[in-house]
Amino acid sequence: MIYLDNAATSRPKPPEVIQAMTDFMNNVCANSGRSGHRLAIEASRTVYETRESIAEFFNIANPLRVVFTLNATESLNLAMRGSLGTGDHVITSSMEHNSVMRPLRALEAQGVEVTVIQCSQQGFLDPNDIDKAIEPHTKMVVLNHGSNVIGSLAPVEEIGRITWDSGLLFLLDTAQTAGAYPIDVEKMHIDLLAFTGHKSLCGPQGTGGLYIGEGIKLDALKWGGTGSRSEEEYQPDFLPDKHESGTLNVVGLAGLGAGVRFVMREGVETIRKRERYLTHRLISGLLAIPGVTVYGGLDADRQIGVVSFNIDGLSQSEVGLRLDEDYEIMCRVGLHCAPIAHKTMGTFPDGTVRFGLGTFTTEDEIDAAIQAVRKLCEGN
Ligand SMILES: Cc1ncc(COP(=O)(O)O)c(C=O)c1O
Repeated sequence: MIYLDNAATSRPKPPEVIQAMTDFMNNVCANSGRSGHRLAIEASRTVYETRESIAEFFNIANPLRVVFTLNATESLNLAMRGSLGTGDHVITSSMEHNSVMRPLRALEAQGVEVTVIQCSQQGFLDPNDIDKAIEPHTKMVVLNHGSNVIGSLAPVEEIGRITWDSGLLFLLDTAQTAGAYPIDVEKMHIDLLAFTGHKSLCGPQGTGGLYIGEGIKLDALKWGGTGSRSEEEYQPDFLPDKHESGTLNVVGLAGLGAGVRFVMREGVETIRKRERYLTHRLISGLLAIPGVTVYGGLDADRQIGVVSFNIDGLSQSEVGLRLDEDYEIMCRVGLHCAPIAHKTMGTFPDGTVRFGLGTFTTEDEIDAAIQAVRKLCEGN
């Protein structure tokens, strides 16, 4: 079986991730930040170690400014709903996932003005267009770092400079890049970084988080028990507690900690180099097959390991089904929760077939996938 659906969630997980979760369940299995007994202290330590590892990975000076959530979607909701209100203006792009577009459309109905910058058909954004769209009431720029449809990378450093110079909040959706591409919140001037744990950070589903830059205050998305200030009926105002109401997914965070430490040990640059090579090999192999259209910039230097294509005369669902049933290749077809990206690419409403590479994808798997697509095109 060949798993090329890493853009949905990474598979397999490193053995140490499964080990860390099993160990937590067998040996600790207590709540963090609540009771004072030794098991509870051990659970709190597990959470804190993951917080520290995440902070180290993204070059975040203060680990307490990392708040854990269930996924990137929750982080993006917290960042946008917690900071934008009636009369504010926000700039985004035409390559976004619905986890950005839907909260923005909901905010628009509440009086937030939304400007969508048109990207090229290959999925690239011109930073000058961001600059030109800034108005006196602009508060935030929110962008996807790497497209989940065609992998195009946003020019984050240039945009970070623009938002920094203009005093705007820069919210980056790193769902597809965290763990697959180097990210440094200082160098890139990222104010709010939304990440998910279950993709290239190699953690389990149900983990994610938001980095909240120094001095930024967000309204809470939910209120409740935090284990701290139990005498108060009001939500604590300090981080991370303000945004971590209710019992955390501590077993998941044990796995995420092991995942991010695995990525750091392998080296994100090494992971990126390998994925870039495999992406290049996949794009070249697909382009050589008559009847296949590959989308995007067709340049592995400017994209992550997400490749979208179509086959003349075959529907996306038929390709997905045949790849699964005849070739045991798992991928995702359709619109990938990003209708606006497909409109930009000219592939709406049918969408594309997407291969999502991962840390454990091999050259043999890429060659087998290319061969399978070739056979499908030849009518086999
Ligand atoms: C670009 C992008 N943003 C946000 C998300 C949402 O991530 P999560 O499933 O962790 O909420 C995804 C998931 O595929 C994504 O690809």
